[in-house]
Amino acid sequence: MSTSTATAVAHANIALIKYWGKRNTALNLPATGSLSLTLDALTTTTRVAFDPALSADDIRLNDQAADGRAAQRISGFLDLLHSHFQPDAAPRTRAQVISHNNFPTAAGLASSASGFAALALAGSHALGANADEAQLSMLARRGSGSAARSIFGGIVEMAHGERDDGLDCIAHPLHAPDFWDLRVLIAITDAGVKKVSSTDGMQLTTDTSPFYPAWVSGAEADLAAARQAIAARDFDALAAVTEFSTLKMHASALAARPGVIYWNAATLAAMHAIRECRAAGTPVCFTMDAGPQVKAVCTAAAVDEVAGMLRALPGVVDVIVSGLGAAARLRPAGDSPAG
Ligand code: DP6
Repeated sequence: MSTSTATAVAHANIALIKYWGKRNTALNLPATGSLSLTLDALTTTTRVAFDPALSADDIRLNDQAADGRAAQRISGFLDLLHSHFQPDAAPRTRAQVISHNNFPTAAGLASSASGFAALALAGSHALGANADEAQLSMLARRGSGSAARSIFGGIVEMAHGERDDGLDCIAHPLHAPDFWDLRVLIAITDAGVKKVSSTDGMQLTTDTSPFYPAWVSGAEADLAAARQAIAARDFDALAAVTEFSTLKMHASALAARPGVIYWNAATLAAMHAIRECRAAGTPVCFTMDAGPQVKAVCTAAAVDEVAGMLRALPGVVDVIVSGLGAAARLRPAGDSPAG
């Protein structure tokens, strides 16, 4: 028997309207919808090769053998793809998975979105399946909720869905990457590994935060406001709802027991500096995920000013600039995942 191999590339994304909390943990169904920008500058490239000669999955992330939880998550995801596409087949063939991020691993940036989007696409093709984007988004969600959005390019919305089986819990593109010339600047304020993962932080928030119900009940209105602001290319309106969503997400996490504090002093300094910049007329706003990095969203015309402002802040160790990126896609057979 021969190996079946496919290589795919997917971009990371940053949510303007956040996903934070699940309505079903087993199927990884989000409690709320979310809305994101796919980021051109941050990519994961993954090659999956099913090989009958292997007795166990061989998983290498950024040139290192994957350990414990990371390896289990990836093997479990390949099991899921196999049972989805070949439900009647014998136990699946083991695979070699080689995955590379083009962004610094130590940067504390989430790689699960681009990682599971690339794995869903490469893995399904290596299994001989030709899944459409909606199906890939639904599958990628099982790996990581935010990965469902990285299947698509540009500006993307993820539905929380109504169905118990999650079949309507998929993302779809709202606008192509060139719809609005936005930039995202990622200010790295701590290059260490995350202390509380998004999965754990949102679960603790769901279980213990008195603010969690308010967070969930406000999400639909935030999504509607963001959709409208984007359709009108109204930066001030988008800035208002973007900051509202991230601050509410963090407020709900801060009120968990024990409270989850993702920010450091430089995170706060960057938030204040971004607001001062906006007050002085520059179209820029902030958003933060489950970590201390600050993502500034601005128009292309403002990028040099915002980059200079962020780089000058004490505690900001690096700034990565990105435009909006394309959908996940296959790479020609034989392509190396490196780079
Ligand atoms: C704060 O997608 O990493 O980045 O589904 O448990 O893998 P799991 O969570 P994950 O959570 C992302 C949370 C967030 C906001 C967002 O991207 O919407």
